[in-house]
Amino acid sequence: MVEASIPGCVVVDHPLVKSKIAILRNKETSREVFRRTLHELTALVAFAATRDLPLEELDIETPLAICRGHRLACPVTIVPILRAGLGMAEAMLAVLPQARIGHIGMYRDEKTFEPKRYYFKAPPDLAETEVFLVDPMLATGNSAADAVTELKAFGARHLRLMALVGCVQGVELFRRKHPDVPVFLAALDPGLNEKAYIVPGLGDAGDRYFGT
Ligand code: URA
Repeated sequence: MVEASIPGCVVVDHPLVKSKIAILRNKETSREVFRRTLHELTALVAFAATRDLPLEELDIETPLAICRGHRLACPVTIVPILRAGLGMAEAMLAVLPQARIGHIGMYRDEKTFEPKRYYFKAPPDLAETEVFLVDPMLATGNSAADAVTELKAFGARHLRLMALVGCVQGVELFRRKHPDVPVFLAALDPGLNEKAYIVPGLGDAGDRYFGT
C-alpha cells in the first residue's frame, strides 16, 4: 500500500489490484466479468480502507480453550452514491456483512458537471458509525465532496471515501473541501476530458456495470 503524492490519498499498490484494474479498463471486458472484477477490486481496496477500524477485545471459547479475540468496536455504514456505487456497496457486504447501508442519489448536470442531489437516506445513528462513502469514479470530486457535506450535516463524524479510479484534480478538490476524510483508490489517473470523464479511466462505470 502506498500513500500517493497527494496527502491523505492511498492508492493501493498490489499486483492483484493492478491486474484487476486493467480488466476494468479494457473496453472488450464483458459485463459479467466487469461486474465480478469490480466486486473483487472493491474488496481489495476495502482491505486497505478498513485497516484502522477500531477493535475491542473479548474472550472467546474455542473447542479447546478460552483465548482473547477481537471484534469491531463500532458499527459500519456503507453509503453508495447512486447508481454506480451500488456495485461497490454489494461487494463491501462480502467483508462487512453486518454493515448498515445508506444511499445518496446524485446525477451530474451534463452542462455544468455540477452534482444534483435527488435522494438521501442514512441510518439515524450515523454519528456512532464508521462511514464508508463508495463511488467507483472520483472524477471532478464534486459529487463525493457534496455527499460528504450531506453526511456530516446528518451527523457523520468518522468518514472514508473509497473509489476505484480517481484523478488528480478530483482528489485534490475533495481533500481541499474535506481534509479530514481519507481517500482510498485502486488507481490514480492524470486528468479529465472535456466531458469530465477520467482519462484513461474505464468509461462510464454505471453504464458498464448495469448494461445501460
Ligand atoms: N463517471 C464515470 O462513470 N466515469 C468517469 O470517467 C467519470 C464519471
